[in-house]
Parts: sequence; C-alpha cells; structure tokens
Amino acid sequence: MALQNEEQSTNLLHAQAHIWNNIFSYINSMSLKCAIELQIPDIINRHGAPMLLSELVEALPINKERTNYVYRLMRILIHSGFFMKQSISNGEEEREGYLLAPVSRFLLKQEPLSLRPFLLSMLDPVLMESWQPMSKWFQNDDVNSFYTAHGRTFWDFAGQDSRHNQLFNEAMASDARLVTNIMLRDFGDAFTNLNSIVDVGGGTGTVSKLIAEAFPHISCICFDLQHVVNGLEGSNNFSYVCGDMFEAIPKADAVLLKWILHDWNDEDCIKILKRCKEAIPSNEYGGKLIIIDMVLKNDEVGEKSLETQLFFDVLMMVDQTGRERTEKEWAKLFLDAGFSDYKIIPCLGLRSMIEVYP
Ligand SMILES: C[S@@+](CC[C@H](N)C(=O)[O-])C[C@H]1O[C@@H](n2cnc3c(N)ncnc32)[C@H](O)[C@@H]1O
Repeated sequence: MALQNEEQSTNLLHAQAHIWNNIFSYINSMSLKCAIELQIPDIINRHGAPMLLSELVEALPINKERTNYVYRLMRILIHSGFFMKQSISNGEEEREGYLLAPVSRFLLKQEPLSLRPFLLSMLDPVLMESWQPMSKWFQNDDVNSFYTAHGRTFWDFAGQDSRHNQLFNEAMASDARLVTNIMLRDFGDAFTNLNSIVDVGGGTGTVSKLIAEAFPHISCICFDLQHVVNGLEGSNNFSYVCGDMFEAIPKADAVLLKWILHDWNDEDCIKILKRCKEAIPSNEYGGKLIIIDMVLKNDEVGEKSLETQLFFDVLMMVDQTGRERTEKEWAKLFLDAGFSDYKIIPCLGLRSMIEVYP
C-alpha cells in the first residue's frame, strides 16, 4: 500500500517506534537481571565513590575483553534509572564514573530490604517460559499458561522442584520483610488487640516472625503447604503449621492473607474466605481478616503505577488462576463468603491493607 501523504508517514513511524518499544521492553528487565547476577550494584556500592568503567571491568568476574559491552550494558541501565554518571576530575582530565541511583540500594545483596530475590525469581527461566504458550492457552483447557508450559500447576511445580521452591520462597520473604516493616511501623495498631494470629500461606514465616517479635503477647502461626514449612522450627510465641487452606485453618483471633487471594479465582477465594471465617471469632469478639493485596483504581494511581498493577493482573492470569481486583470486586467476594463489612487502608504503595469483619 503506497503512503498517501506526509501525515501517514509520521503516523507509520510513530507506530513503528511504539511497537518496537513494546517488543523490546524485556531488554530492560533482562539487562537488570544480568547486572544483578554480575553483582554490579554491590561492586559499585563497595567502591564508595564514582567508579570508572576500567575499574568496574577490573572488579567484575568477566572476560576482560568485554569492556565495551559493559559500557553498553551500563548505558541502558543508566537510561532505565538504575545507575548515574558523575564527572571525576584529577585536575588534568575529566572522566566519568558510575554511581548507584537511589532505587538501586534495594538491589544490593546485603541490604536487609533488598528486592534482589524477587527479581531473580520473577525473571527465572521457569517463570519466563510460562509466557511462551500464552496464546495456545487461550485455545486449550489448561488452568493457566504456566500449566501449558510445564504440565503442572505452579504449586505442584514448587512442591517437586526444590530449586524453584527455594527461589520463590526467598522472593516472597524479601517482599514480606519490606511490607511488614512498613506495616508494623505505620499500622501496628491493627495488631495490638490480638492474642493470636495465623498467617495463611505465610511462606517461610517472615511476616509471622516479625509480628511475633514486635508483639510478644501475640501467638503467631505461619500456615503453609508441607514443602514450604517442612523442617522449619518456630520459637517462643511463633510456630509453623502445615496444611491446606482449602480444608481447614488453625483457629486464631485474626487471619492474615498476604498476597494469597490474588492467586485464586473468585470461586476458590470464596472457599478460602469461608475457611478463614470458621477460624476466627465473631465480630463482637474482635475476629477479623487482614488482607494485603492490590485494589485496582484505574484512574487514581498514575500511569506507571496502573501499568504495574496491570502487569501483576496478567502475571496472575499466566501463572495462577487469580486476578487483581477493584474495590467492588473485593466487596462482592467478602459478601459472598459471609463477611459483614470491610475497611480498605491504602497504605502499602501499590497494595492496600484490607480489614474484613465477620
Ligand atoms: C504468593 S505466595 C505468598 C507468600 C506470603 N504470604 C508472602 O506474601 O510473603 C502464596 C503462598 O500460598 C501458599 N499456598 C498455596 N496453596 C496453598 C494451600 N492450598 N494451603 C496453604 N498454603 C498454600 C504457597 O505455598 C505460598 O507460600
């Protein structure tokens, strides 16, 4: 088809640039993963001053002939906001050195609130492979694209592959450290009146352990599948219980569900919520659920945050059977599971804390 005029050419070239940008979005995440695996943020941080390219190459465990490739890797990571450049002058010549951008502190290995384990798990080949058959999944009967790629569900895979299990549990623990620190510092009141709490799907126990330390009067249980809590030992007011949340949940004043319900479709969420309701006292005796999950607010969160929330929504479609939900969708779930009221506290960045009352 011949182009009729200049406007059509401009539109065509805009379209091409937009399509290219989306085709190659993965280059941002893969370049970052490469830098993390090579420990570039840690090396630059340890250097303690703007680091020359030659110094960085020298410190990296790589083929030293890759200098120019390191320069190009750093150039895109500066563009995506993970590193910065600063001039270094020795009086005679000006050179440029690399520094960490503020966000990169959370990519350091030694940083207690590091997001490094989350990145390494989410970009691991096991999870990346689940995207390849996505269009096939739209045409078949599998529960999700992860199943089409691997022939089993995400949780079965985790139960059978210890590497994947460990990588994923560490990813969850890293997120849990960050969220729980903020939650306890700014919204600790939610816990003060409780004598016991069960963290359902609590992974390896990061959240429950931090609650148990902050509130020695609260008896805390981390409840998860056998392959997750197997061999782990509790202490003082903190213990592990293994089981299936679709069958029964240990009794407590409150149930915590952090990043659980977004994994499941509405039907399964209602089953889980009903088991939770059976585990807690009635409203007049202070029973409640504390949910940590996203509440989709399309027009209020800003373009970038909305995109991240939608990324999570599609991630839940590809790897799980769940979704991210609007307030209306959450309210319907609570009502359908027999709860009487809820309160949303939008306090954890892209996620909220939702208290739900029986
Ligand atoms: C997305 S992870 C969240 C982990 C943790 N709550 C956090 O946010 O750090 C979901 C957790 O649910 C657990 N899980 C999955 N199916 C379960 C079941 N049927 N019963 C109990 N736990 C389950 C998984 O093993 C995993 O630890």
